[in-house]
Amino acid sequence: MTEASDRENWEPKILAFLCNWCSYAGADLAGTSRIQYPPNIRVIRVPCSGRVNPMHIVAALRQGADGVLVSGCHPGDCHYLAGNMFARRRFALLQRYLIYLGIEPGRVQFSWVSASEGGRFAEVVTEVTEQVRALGPSKRLNMRAGSVSAAEEATATEAAS
Ligand code: FES
Repeated sequence: MTEASDRENWEPKILAFLCNWCSYAGADLAGTSRIQYPPNIRVIRVPCSGRVNPMHIVAALRQGADGVLVSGCHPGDCHYLAGNMFARRRFALLQRYLIYLGIEPGRVQFSWVSASEGGRFAEVVTEVTEQVRALGPSKRLNMRAGSVSAAEEATATEAAS
């Protein structure tokens, strides 16, 4: 197979951290409503979007994900009051850290999806998949294990907390 055909056959692998109370239920609703969306995501259900540590996202990218989606409750709807606001703040800081690591910030997306928004969930997944597809395969091979030191990871986690 040539490199061009590899690229043609390539499908983005996207890891989605979904808050149990809203976005995961929205994904469930999309499924039970038979709303179509790209099959490129692999879901990890988390109790709250605020539970997602930025290093989980970096680890996913390092281990082969081409993109990461974090989705939680809309502002004001978080079951833990402000977890989604902490997540949004971390996300903003993580964007800068991704640039520092040489990763396109567009590979990591953040969204709000409620339990009643099955259609919106499908739209978000479609948008994220197309954005990651446009970026191409992740350059994870350039991110050797150990290229980010434990001290740097600790600093990034602390800054994002
Ligand atoms: Fe959904 Fe916090 S419980 S984002």
